[in-house]
Amino acid sequence: MTQQSVIQSGDVVHITGARPNFPKAAPVIAALAAAGVAQKLIHTGQHYDEALSESFFQILDLPKPDLNLGVGSGSHATQTAAIMVGIESAIGNSKPAMIVVYGDVNSTVAAALVAAKLGILVAHVEAGLRSFDLTMPEEINRKLTDQLSDLLLITSPEAKDNLEREGLGDREIFFVGNSMIDTLLAHLHEFDEKKIASKLNLDGDYAVATLHRPANVDELETAKDIVSALGQVSEQTQIILPLHPRGKESLMQAGLAKFDQIKVIEPLNYIDFISLVKGAKFVITDSGGVQEETTILKVPCLTLRPNTERPITITHGTNQLVTVSDLVKRVANLSPVKDVVPPLWDGTAGERIAAAIIEFLGRK
Ligand code: UD1
Repeated sequence: MTQQSVIQSGDVVHITGARPNFPKAAPVIAALAAAGVAQKLIHTGQHYDEALSESFFQILDLPKPDLNLGVGSGSHATQTAAIMVGIESAIGNSKPAMIVVYGDVNSTVAAALVAAKLGILVAHVEAGLRSFDLTMPEEINRKLTDQLSDLLLITSPEAKDNLEREGLGDREIFFVGNSMIDTLLAHLHEFDEKKIASKLNLDGDYAVATLHRPANVDELETAKDIVSALGQVSEQTQIILPLHPRGKESLMQAGLAKFDQIKVIEPLNYIDFISLVKGAKFVITDSGGVQEETTILKVPCLTLRPNTERPITITHGTNQLVTVSDLVKRVANLSPVKDVVPPLWDGTAGERIAAAIIEFLGRK
């Protein structure tokens, strides 16, 4: 089948590319399928390792992509451009009803830009989040994607204020909740902390750490400071660190493997990772998604960043922002977990998103 013929006119076309996209897209695709909507899935191939991509398709029952663009890694310009060329070619002369993009990765902004220029309606799932930190590539992706989107589907109320502040108040904004949390709740019975502990030979309390933000792992000096702080934390509680490919070189060079009480492992599949987090005493991370997942799992989360685009995980969750220099102290003084969850993080966001898309397309 040629790329040009994959998409039919009238299709709702979902674009996924990187690990965090998959648990956000799965409930939306399922809810639209249940409503009988004709849809296609394009995987850009931004992530291609088994653990970061294929394993999610199996575990989350995502349909096999109708097309994988296979763009792979590269500089931001190279990767974004390759995704744009691939999506434009895949659309060809067809007239999809809508392109649905997720989160804030390069695949998100690239697809939104192509669709907007072709006059195709764009829906952005997880619109309006802002860290107000333009040194993060994701913040640039978020702002541009929202500007290009017709339907803005938000996970938390403050996202609406952010969109209004950027002049988007007259767009279609719907507070739908968090479809990534739908995925978490749907698989809750499969998360088995005892099983993963036995698989990894863990005994007693442990913490989980994940690090992959460019600001934390790209510079060796910063990586060394972080590794040294983790080393100190590990004197009290052993740390399990599934290592994302991005941080591998610098964190290893910074001496991560030197500490007996830090266990560095390969990235885990979704079920194993969330099981590990569920059984953890606390989590140290710079991931966006993990701030949200720990909030629902009621596991204290220390986010090693100066800001978060997900402040609701602080006000309604288990999250706190920490610096490298106060990490050890904050671990020693973990606050009790609050008994609140963010509004509409209830397992049915996918259905609300599908309903919003169907209603919106019905009016167009
Ligand atoms: C991307 C997203 C980030 C998200 C993260 C989740 C952007 C700008 N960043 O960051 O928001 O939090 O995914 O994982 O879109 N690599 C592999 N195998 C893969 C993919 C990547 O080894 O399957 C390595 C390559 O060396 C690559 C590097 O990781 O150069 C970075 O990959 P990339 O997709 O550019 O960004 P991430 O850091 O993964």
